[in-house]
Amino acid sequence: MSTNDPERLVDGDAGDEERRIESALRPRRLEDFPGQTRVRDQLSLVLEAARRRESPPDHVLLSGPPGLGKTTLAMIIAAELEQPIRITSGPAIQHAGDLASILSSLAEGEVLFLDEIHRMARPAEEMLYLAMEDFRVDVIVGKGPGATAIPLELPPFTVVGATTRSGLLPAPLRDRFGFTGHLDFYKTEDLVTILTKNARLLEIDADREGIEHIASRSRGTPRIANRLLRRVRDWAQVYGQQSVDLESANAALTLFDVDDQGLDRLDRAVLEALCRRFGGGPVGLSTLAVAVGEEPDTVETVAEPFLVREGFMIRTPRGRAASPQAWEHLGLTPPPPQKGVQGTASQDALPLDSRNGRLGN
Ligand SMILES: Nc1ncnc2c1ncn2[C@@H]1O[C@H](COP(=O)(O)OP(=O)(O)OP(=O)(O)O)[C@@H](O)[C@H]1O
Ligand SMILES: [Mg+2]
Repeated sequence: MSTNDPERLVDGDAGDEERRIESALRPRRLEDFPGQTRVRDQLSLVLEAARRRESPPDHVLLSGPPGLGKTTLAMIIAAELEQPIRITSGPAIQHAGDLASILSSLAEGEVLFLDEIHRMARPAEEMLYLAMEDFRVDVIVGKGPGATAIPLELPPFTVVGATTRSGLLPAPLRDRFGFTGHLDFYKTEDLVTILTKNARLLEIDADREGIEHIASRSRGTPRIANRLLRRVRDWAQVYGQQSVDLESANAALTLFDVDDQGLDRLDRAVLEALCRRFGGGPVGLSTLAVAVGEEPDTVETVAEPFLVREGFMIRTPRGRAASPQAWEHLGLTPPPPQKGVQGTASQDALPLDSRNGRLGN
């Protein structure tokens, strides 16, 4: 998913230069990874048990919105196991043969990181089930009726899959992961910890108030927090300030259209469309996406999880709806409830976990 908008500050996606900075800032060990305590503790147990058994752990699936640390955790898993990591992604595996050649070259215990695993082609997916379960691939030799499958044994290895859309994974694939970690948005205090450390690594002079201000407006997302920190640093430098403080943080975030709740232009565009054009909804995802000029996938994976989590948007079986909080945030008055309309948005509300990627399309 990508918005392809270079100006978008609070985007989920990272560009090339950013990827370089990100990899420099990634924590390397589990104990240096702030936040996500539940997933971290669970993962720590799974890895420790595997170390004691001296065998690879169960396959691990990491799911959650962009920028919360899935890739970082995949690297950490390999580092904790002291194993090499092979990195590829769903879209890079278009044919079963692509996967077969990767699988057949894995060393014992190696970690295979499959990013965006929900975007893998179906035949490759089927090959992956077998490989994950039985450590075996069937290599097809020849073509047509004369083709034969030659089974090839693989040494035990660990798949770490990452997805922003776990609802799109077919059940048989999901079932082959012995452990699934759902990453959730970070608490502000965890982002403060992350930013304090990163300011030091990037040699940015930042005070506590400035850091707290940035953390509270980063949509609970370390990638966004890191990005905002660098923009505030830019502002401080250009305007001759010695350090990142409350004033520079406030000014820079206002300049980059991040509001006091951390919502950016896309978030607000979605809420504006919901309230102004569709009277608060419910409205289908595709219609909403067209109204804001984005791909449905971008609206669903980048904007929606945070808007739902913060109570601005409600997912209903009939589409997306604005909450009273959304109207209030935009300074608008919601229309009076219509008589005789069955079910209010809040009655129909579904928890985020029940997302299946098809609701209200
Ligand atoms: N718990 C954390 N502590 C410190 N930094 C973190 C943490 N989680 C994520 N980050 C930082 O945030 C950035 C994005 O993290 P990462 O690339 O792991 O996210 P992701 O979930 O893989 O995102 P995507 O879905 O876009 O691939 C990286 O720079 C990483 O160092
Ligand atoms: Mg990633």
